[in-house]
Amino acid sequence: MKAVGSYKALAVNEAEAFLDVEIDKPVASGRNLLVEVRAVSVNPVDTKVRKRPHPDETWRVLGWDASGVVTAIGDDVSGFAVGDEVYYAGCITKPGSNSEYQLVDERIAAKKPASLGFADAAALPLTTITAWEALFERLGVSKTGADAGKSILMIGGAGGVGSIAIQLASKLAGLNIIATASREESANWCMARGADFVINHYEDIPEALVEIGHAQVDYVLCLTNIAGYWKTITDVIKPQGKICTIVDFFEDSNLDLLKLKSASFAFEFMFTRSMHQTDDMDEINKLLSETAALIDSGDLVTTAGDAISPINADNMRKVHATIEEGRAIGKYVLEGWA
Ligand SMILES: NC(=O)c1ccc[n+]([C@@H]2O[C@H](COP(=O)([O-])OP(=O)(O)OC[C@H]3O[C@@H](n4cnc5c(N)ncnc54)[C@H](OP(=O)(O)O)[C@@H]3O)[C@@H](O)[C@H]2O)c1
Repeated sequence: MKAVGSYKALAVNEAEAFLDVEIDKPVASGRNLLVEVRAVSVNPVDTKVRKRPHPDETWRVLGWDASGVVTAIGDDVSGFAVGDEVYYAGCITKPGSNSEYQLVDERIAAKKPASLGFADAAALPLTTITAWEALFERLGVSKTGADAGKSILMIGGAGGVGSIAIQLASKLAGLNIIATASREESANWCMARGADFVINHYEDIPEALVEIGHAQVDYVLCLTNIAGYWKTITDVIKPQGKICTIVDFFEDSNLDLLKLKSASFAFEFMFTRSMHQTDDMDEINKLLSETAALIDSGDLVTTAGDAISPINADNMRKVHATIEEGRAIGKYVLEGWA
């Protein structure tokens, strides 16, 4: 089968950073689904893993976001059948989705939204799992409206995760959302997804919050560069407020700054359940299924921009280069095999 391989730990412009390769088609067993991949999306994690040295110095298959059709199932699969259209992010310790066929555990996959094509569906899984777990599990926000009217500052609102986190916080939780964006197009994108206010992360955040009448906030969701915003975050969080980040927390960030406010801090890593095979791994199936229903009812919309075709090394290189610039708005999707 066809796949896009990534060789060694290379910069995006190196010839062997992306290769069109032929590899063996995997065989479904246990709780795995064998999925014929129709579309994939690219996340910053793909670029990070690509640049990370790996021991055997051979190519590997990246990609942790896909939609496709189930073509075979393992003997222990109970929730899916051949022919089901699915979407999933997969597991970071397993081969990625940039291949014609991929195995995925049924507990971390779900039937894709019926109203979306494969490209629009592939944009959603990784970022939705991240945003959902961050908001409703790590920050403990009620998804049935019990916290409606509370305020959240989302730093990096127009990116892949922010684009769905804003929708979830608005449509399900009814939070008052202050998103950050630095450009007119990224600010407009956040407002269109349900942000109540947009402020510029490169300007004085505390001052901007005072101007919009939210000097302090109940929640902070930091989707980028937490080290650079840590002091600001600890200043603007309310006493007993809650902070979550999805990015690395650098050594110079001092947790003591939270003590006098009894503020909480949590990490969100969306591969935790799949990587550690936790007992509640099927929560991912449940949240993706709930998301599919919310898409089909029109409450949520896809975060995909235009899809490019086909899925091959040249196009993968272009998308990685764009994501590495750190200015993505929504998600980049590749669809179909040549
Ligand atoms: N822990 C997890 O499970 C998890 C899951 C998903 C992603 N992540 C990580 O989270 C980060 C964000 O992911 P993503 O998919 O949302 O990224 P993305 O789509 O590449 O984010 C791009 C956005 O980031 C904003 N941005 C860039 N630099 C910024 C800065 N210094 N301050 C504030 N905003 C900035 C840009 O906004 P403007 O153009 O408006 O400036 C742009 O819209 C990545 O590092 C990714 O690896 C972690």
